[in-house]
Amino acid sequence: MAHQAQFPASERHRLVDEERQRRQPVEMLLARIRPRKGEAIADLGAGVGYLSLPLAAAGAEVIALDSQQEMLEGLRERGNGSERVQLVKAILPSIPLRDASLDRVVMVNVLHEVEDKAGLAKEIARVLRPTGRMTLVDWQARETGRGPPLHERVPVELAPSIFEGFVLERGYDDGDHYHLELRRE
Ligand SMILES: C[S@@+](CC[C@H](N)C(=O)[O-])C[C@H]1O[C@@H](n2cnc3c(N)ncnc32)[C@H](O)[C@@H]1O
Repeated sequence: MAHQAQFPASERHRLVDEERQRRQPVEMLLARIRPRKGEAIADLGAGVGYLSLPLAAAGAEVIALDSQQEMLEGLRERGNGSERVQLVKAILPSIPLRDASLDRVVMVNVLHEVEDKAGLAKEIARVLRPTGRMTLVDWQARETGRGPPLHERVPVELAPSIFEGFVLERGYDDGDHYHLELRRE
């Protein structure tokens, strides 16, 4: 099986630069996610916190998980001591959190980088509460002029079926990306 490449930590500034904000505005992501005050959200593959920090600013208790220490360091610096963001270094599919301890999981531009997607789906199901919800944003599996190699991308038609026991509530096509809001059945 081909090894999925991780977004290089040396390029982490690109995750939060003006072009990112223009192409995938964080306000748009937040408006669709509709985080609630106090809800426990894990941002899987959080990078330097493009989404984790605004989620925390909106009142959520965020667990930002990433496999790369440089990403977590960058997030910590950008967060400037935000108390509502906990940093966890872990390699997905493993999620070192308690069973049924989360209200929501978000994954933005990460699914295509995780090799064991079935294992990831199982772990997400384990850590989410019975009422849990999930946000899945990733690159469309078509030529977009930028982004990861086409063969790594997960087509929008297939993405929900990876997550057994979840139903699609809302879906958006943003051109280069799709945005799916899923909840447990
Ligand atoms: C393209 S970046 C997206 C970061 C962030 N979600 C955002 O939207 O800005 C992908 C992130 O996923 C992380 N990642 C990739 N594979 C991972 C794995 N198996 N376990 C944990 N993190 C992973 C990378 O380190 C990187 O920070």
